Amino acid sequence: MGKGGRSLISYGEVPVRSSSGGYPVRVGSGVRGTLPQVVAGAATSGRCAVIADERVAGLWYDDLASALAGHGLEAVPAFFPPGEASKTRETWGALTDVLMDARLGRDCCVVSLGGGVTGDLAGFVAATFLRGVPFVQLPTTTLAMIDASVGGKTGVDHPLGKNLVGAFHAPVAVLADPDFLTTLDTGLRAQGYAEAVKHGVILDAGYAGWLASRARPLLDGDAEVVGRAVVRSVELKAGVVSADEFEGGRRRILNFGHTVGHALELESAFTLPHGHAVAVGMVAEARIGEELGVAAAGTADEIRALVSAFGLPSSHPSLAHPQRLVALMVRDKKTRSGVIHIVRLEELGRTGVGDATTIPVREDELVRIIEGSPADN
Ligand SMILES: NC(=O)c1ccc[n+]([C@@H]2O[C@H](COP(=O)([O-])OP(=O)(O)OC[C@H]3O[C@@H](n4cnc5c(N)ncnc54)[C@H](O)[C@@H]3O)[C@@H](O)[C@H]2O)c1
Ligand SMILES: [Zn+2]
Repeated sequence: MGKGGRSLISYGEVPVRSSSGGYPVRVGSGVRGTLPQVVAGAATSGRCAVIADERVAGLWYDDLASALAGHGLEAVPAFFPPGEASKTRETWGALTDVLMDARLGRDCCVVSLGGGVTGDLAGFVAATFLRGVPFVQLPTTTLAMIDASVGGKTGVDHPLGKNLVGAFHAPVAVLADPDFLTTLDTGLRAQGYAEAVKHGVILDAGYAGWLASRARPLLDGDAEVVGRAVVRSVELKAGVVSADEFEGGRRRILNFGHTVGHALELESAFTLPHGHAVAVGMVAEARIGEELGVAAAGTADEIRALVSAFGLPSSHPSLAHPQRLVALMVRDKKTRSGVIHIVRLEELGRTGVGDATTIPVREDELVRIIEGSPADN
């Protein structure tokens, strides 16, 4: 199957439990070549919709479609313009219409070929088309491999905020193939490592250090090192989402960096990439934790060093307008009864548990702390 041959070098397989029975995340160079077997198992009609943005479709769709055809399977292409601006109910509607027009039935499946935007959109189409059809994830960005393709969250943005309309819909399998990264530029590769650093920061300080020490091969897309990072990140995320699929408790630690991060994205009208927003958000939230006396002194600086190893930003000009950011945080899904919560990070690798997973922060206190942040880079 083009661009790298047919051989498969496996870096591991991580099982993820879910209410629908669980699914494997298979990580390997060439693992995309196993898509026909997965589709044959998921779609008794042998027909699948392949949802991709036009950029990824131009690079990878033909290979995939001919591999499927070689196994007597039919791919129905459903493409949309790249970018977060496409993650809308309108695109969801247009993609659904393509599936309807192709007369796909409940015996089809939906394949997501792309980054996190595609996975969220395609997953939401799969969750809702004919009340739900099987869904296969082929993540093509580091962010999607390391984070977005695992956990079953799907959905679209709303003018009032990110991911406000969606559903939980677990995939039947995730095929994470680092070979896809050969066509992704370094800046986009770096963005996914913000989420990997997050996994280390909240759950495994040793992993966070390992990541920073391997930043060069990770940014270069060295398949074996990327494969190891994907396996470890998925293990860590799977451990959390398997225990709390619908975000009642423990899963909230995955929101570390996202309370401030989502506000920054919203403030930028989604022009700030998610990975950058999370990198800045993690440093800011660690600093808030330090100021409130829950995080060990120096935690924010440690995180700053980790994200900097990947060339990711640790500050942003919008932090100079804390009032506006805090107003956006109040509107976020993570506020409960109108109170802003941030994840209680105590030191690298350790967070609060149970009711202390997050802490409420008063709005005026947040404004004061963010106002006092060092406005570096
Ligand atoms: N569902 C979840 O749990 C979850 C978790 C984290 C993030 N997300 C979502 O993920 C999205 C961000 O994901 P993303 O950064 O992957 O964005 P993306 O899907 O928009 O991809 C970024 C860009 O890279 C291009 N691209 C993708 N793969 C490529 C490849 N192999 N070669 C060349 N170009 C390629 C795309 O065309 C796009 O322009 C956000 O919407 C975020 O909310 C979801
Ligand atoms: Zn994220």
